[in-house]
Amino acid sequence: MSNASRIYMQGSRDNNRWMRYAYPPYKTIQELIIMSLQIFRTKQIAVHDIHSKGLNRCLSAWDLAFLGVGAIIGTGIFVLTGIAAATQSGPAVILSFVIAGVACAFAALSYAELASSVGGCGSAYGYSYAAFGELIAFIIGWDLLLEYGISVAAVANGWSGYFNNALTAIGWGLPDVLTKAPKLGGYINLPAFAIILILMGVLIMGVKQSAKANNSMVIVKLITISIFIGIAVFNVHPDNWHPFMPFGWFQTLPDGKTTGVLAGASLVFFAYVGFDAVSTAAEEAQNPQRDLPFGIVTSLAFCTLVYIIVAGLLTGVVPYTELNVSSPVAHALTLLGYNWASALISTGVIAGLTTVMLVLYYGLTRIIFAMSRDGLLPPFFSKLNPNTQTPIRVIVLCGLIIALIAGFMPLGDLAELVNIGTLAAFVLVCLGVIVLRITQPTMPRPFTTPFSPLFPILGMLSCGALMAFLPALTWLRFLVWLVIGLIVYFSYSMAHSKLAKVTD
Ligand code: ALA
Repeated sequence: MSNASRIYMQGSRDNNRWMRYAYPPYKTIQELIIMSLQIFRTKQIAVHDIHSKGLNRCLSAWDLAFLGVGAIIGTGIFVLTGIAAATQSGPAVILSFVIAGVACAFAALSYAELASSVGGCGSAYGYSYAAFGELIAFIIGWDLLLEYGISVAAVANGWSGYFNNALTAIGWGLPDVLTKAPKLGGYINLPAFAIILILMGVLIMGVKQSAKANNSMVIVKLITISIFIGIAVFNVHPDNWHPFMPFGWFQTLPDGKTTGVLAGASLVFFAYVGFDAVSTAAEEAQNPQRDLPFGIVTSLAFCTLVYIIVAGLLTGVVPYTELNVSSPVAHALTLLGYNWASALISTGVIAGLTTVMLVLYYGLTRIIFAMSRDGLLPPFFSKLNPNTQTPIRVIVLCGLIIALIAGFMPLGDLAELVNIGTLAAFVLVCLGVIVLRITQPTMPRPFTTPFSPLFPILGMLSCGALMAFLPALTWLRFLVWLVIGLIVYFSYSMAHSKLAKVTD
C-alpha cells in the first residue's frame, strides 16, 4: 500500500471516529429506533415436540383436569363467598359467581386455543410472546408472577387459620404470637410459613409425585363439598333468599370501597383464579394439544357448577348477614347444629387449600423457568436438576420468598390485587386469539375457540369490566407493580433476551 493511501485510510478512519463524537444525536436516535423496535420482537411458534428433552412429560388429561380443580376450589368458595354475601352481594352472590364464571369461560376458551396451538410452559406469557412481542409478553409474565406468588401467600394465611382451629379443637392450639403477622400483634404466622416450606419439598420431588399428592387431596376436597351439599340441601329456608339483592348492582362507598353484585363478582373472581395454571403444564403434558383444552375447560365447567350450587345453598341455609366470618361453610353447619360435619369440613378445607397452594406455586415456578429460558430473567432460574427434572433453584427461591411473605405479612385485601393482575392477563389472552388468527392464519389449531372473534371480544369486555369494578387503591398497587416490572425489563431483560442474541 502506498504512503498516500495509508495516509488517506488513516484519515478516513479518524474522520469516522471524529464523526462518531461529532454527531452523537444521529447515533443515539438510530440506536433508539432499533431499541424501540426490539420491544416488539416476537418468538417463533415452536411445533410441539413431545419427545424433546427438558421437563418430564408425564401428566395425563385427567391429571391436568385434577390440577385445575386443585388450583381452583379454595379460599374463594370456602372463605370469600361468605364475605361477598354479607358485604357486597347478599343472596345474589350466586349471580356474582355466574358473572365471574361467564367472564372466565370466555377467557378459558381462548386459553384452550392458545394452549393447544402455541403451547410452552409459560402459559399466557408464552402466547403473548408469539402474538404481541417481547414487552407485552414480559408484562404478562410479570402479572402472572404477581397472580401466582401473592395467591399462594394469601391462601397460606387462610390455611393457617383453619389449621390452627383444628389444633385448638384437639387442645394443641398455637398462641396468637405464632399465628399472626407482626402488623397484627404477633411475631410470625408459623403455620403459613411452614406449609410453604413443606410444599417446596413436594415440588422438588418431581411433578408426577406432586400431581399424585394433588389428586388425593382433590378427592378429599370434593368429598368435603359433597358433605356440605348433602346436608344443606335438606335445610334450605327460602326466606333467607329475601331480599335477594340488598346492595343493588354496584355502588362506591364513601371510604372508596365498592359494593353490589358486580363488585361481588370482582371479588369472588378469586375463586376461579387457577384454571389458567393448567396451561403452565404444557411441557409436562403427555399430549398437550389434546389434553390441555380438556383440562382447562373441564375443570372450569365443573368448578363453576360447584360454586353456583354451594353459593345458592349457603345463602339458603342461614341469613347472609351471618356469613361475614373466616370459615362461613363450616360456620353455617355449626349454626344448623351439625358440629361433627363442621369439624369434617374444616379438615377437608385444610386439604383443599393445600392443593390450591401446590398448583399455583407449581405454576409460578414454571413461568419463571420459561422467562429465564428466554433470557428475560437471569439464567440461574432455568437450570433443571438432572435427577428430578425439576427447576430446583427456582422452587427453593420462590418457596423462601413466599414463606416470608406468608409468615410476616397480613394479606387481607391482596385477593383483589391478585384479581386485577389475572384479569389483565385474561384480556390479553383473548386479544391474542384474535391477533394470531390474523397474523398466523395457517397455524395448526387442534382446538379452536367457537364463534371467534365474538367470544374473545366478549371475554375482553367482561374481564375488562370486572377490572373496572375493583377499588382505586387496587389499581394503584397494580400500577406500582407494573412500573417495577418495566424497570426490570429495560434495565436487564431487553439486553439479555435470547432474541437479542439472535438479532446480534
Ligand atoms: N381459586 C383459588 C382459591 O379460591 C385461588 O383459593
